[in-house]
Amino acid sequence: MTRHEAVQSIVAGREGSTRDNAISYAPANIALCKYWGKRNAELNLPVNSSVSVSLRDKGTHTQLTRSQRNQLTINEQEISEDDKAFVRLFDFLGLFCQDPLRVETRSTIPIAAGLASSASAFASMTLALNKLQDWQLTDKEMSMLARLGSGSASRSIYNGFVEWHAGSLDDGMDSFAERLDVEWPEFRIGVLTISESEKPVGSREGMNRTVAESALYRAWPDVAARDLRDIREAIVVKDFELLGACAESNAMSMHGTMLGCRPPLLYWRPDSVSTLEQIWHLRSEGLPVYATMDAGPNIKLLFLENAENEVKSALPDLQSIAPFTDSNT
Ligand code: PMV
Repeated sequence: MTRHEAVQSIVAGREGSTRDNAISYAPANIALCKYWGKRNAELNLPVNSSVSVSLRDKGTHTQLTRSQRNQLTINEQEISEDDKAFVRLFDFLGLFCQDPLRVETRSTIPIAAGLASSASAFASMTLALNKLQDWQLTDKEMSMLARLGSGSASRSIYNGFVEWHAGSLDDGMDSFAERLDVEWPEFRIGVLTISESEKPVGSREGMNRTVAESALYRAWPDVAARDLRDIREAIVVKDFELLGACAESNAMSMHGTMLGCRPPLLYWRPDSVSTLEQIWHLRSEGLPVYATMDAGPNIKLLFLENAENEVKSALPDLQSIAPFTDSNT
């Protein structure tokens, strides 16, 4: 099945009264159990299920307006037609809508925080298209459509803790995300920027190379299945230490699979290692703080509100995000 056929199987026959423009917002998300490896690259169908937490007011605002020609602005800057972001975005929009569109996106993710904005961008685009075309899609349908832009975008349709079910069908109709019914107002994500420079190998390429080249990847599906079960359980019973330990181990296992590539794939910088050591030292002294990392050198911390002051004084550059409350610092 092609991406276009996947879209048609969801939106065909849905056209309602169309509008001239629509706005929407979707949050970025951080995976606690990572999506790593595709069983179908065309449809972004994952090998394993994953769990994330959405970053509430850190994400992407999108406005779509019917226009004479395709246009894109990101944070009020006009993007040229040959830019990678322009090509990728209109390739995605072209799956849904033949009319030219003016797309204005604005990110509330701190610049250079090392947080992927593609998840919130594709999720926000899908939500805006649904409004523009008046399709009245369900969240589950929008999650499947956002997945076609970027796998992790399937989770950015929701706030809070989110599980993306890998599914097993060839057409991906059982591969969508759902929100877990848990509120955890004390939960915090801390972001530490280690490097602002663009990654030499993007997550898509890193994932594909690992699956193709690393013998260690064969262990990953079982590791991820175990971690997913434990992380889901830890979230439901609010066992922070179990959640932190499993999420950290899951991220380290993912990076371990990358080291088995030829040549090895290593996203870490020297400061990533020294920061991890600092976090492990704080923990050995009794502070419950854990780390997770994605396909890049930056570090995200997991801790609870009652540890926030201590974590911030040990790591002054930390940006703290409260995914369940509006009073972010
Ligand atoms: O959705 P993508 O193609 O940007 O891949 C995301 C991969 C990781 O960030 C490493 C893990 C995840 O689950 O978000």
